[in-house]
Amino acid sequence: MLATMDVTTALQQRVSTRRFRPDPVDEQTVRELLEVARWSPSGGNLQPWRVVVVAGEERQAVVDLARQTQAEGRDGGGEEFPVYPSPLHEPYRTRRFAMGEQMYAVLGIPREDKPGRLAHVARNFEFFGAPVGVFFVVDRRLGHGQWAHLGMFMQSLALAATERGLATCFQEFWGVVRAPLAEHFGLDEHHTVYCGMALGHADEHEVNRLRTERAPVEEFAELRGF
Ligand SMILES: Cc1cc2nc3c(=O)[nH]c(=O)nc-3n(C[C@H](O)[C@H](O)[C@H](O)COP(=O)(O)O)c2cc1C
Repeated sequence: MLATMDVTTALQQRVSTRRFRPDPVDEQTVRELLEVARWSPSGGNLQPWRVVVVAGEERQAVVDLARQTQAEGRDGGGEEFPVYPSPLHEPYRTRRFAMGEQMYAVLGIPREDKPGRLAHVARNFEFFGAPVGVFFVVDRRLGHGQWAHLGMFMQSLALAATERGLATCFQEFWGVVRAPLAEHFGLDEHHTVYCGMALGHADEHEVNRLRTERAPVEEFAELRGF
């Protein structure tokens, strides 16, 4: 697939897509994305990333596994690495709340509609309809630095996908079932799933037009000595 987008445009165009068309993404394209993302930097060049990519029957198997784990009320190991600290402090709490409210407003699901909101969250376990799921695997023996470097790889993969007209959504939600996933993928005891990512073609749905806010540069950056 020909890639022609500059980095700034890719950064600005990448958004979390939460409704996908079923059109497949072929293996060659997925390999190309991984080929690009592997040039991400990492401290000491450790390259602390592993990925499992699923499509077709393999995708369906993890969708079923997640559903079954939830239906049985089993602990899937989510608490080992909680998504957010509890309680979440400011300014993060407000930002998280604002993002959620913005998203549910676009989806037309009011706060009182708990089942509606839960149903949306549950769609994480279907990759929001995307034909491909990517799982980012981390080695528990590594430290916070290596987790950050895995994050750089993740962003690279998403930008490479954007450049090729593909859509993505990172999904830490999959961490809720990291234990059954590890077993399913045959990971050794050191490795665990940190995050998932839906990959495919964006649907026309309203939710994909959600443009989240960002704090202005002055709020998070200090420029000294200029
Ligand atoms: C590591 C990571 C994990 C995320 N996990 C989820 C998730 O489980 N489900 C979801 O709907 N969005 C998830 N998101 C998407 C964020 O909500 C989104 O990136 C943020 O609101 C900014 O919006 P944007 O990606 O459209 O710019 C995740 C994002 C990141 C970077």
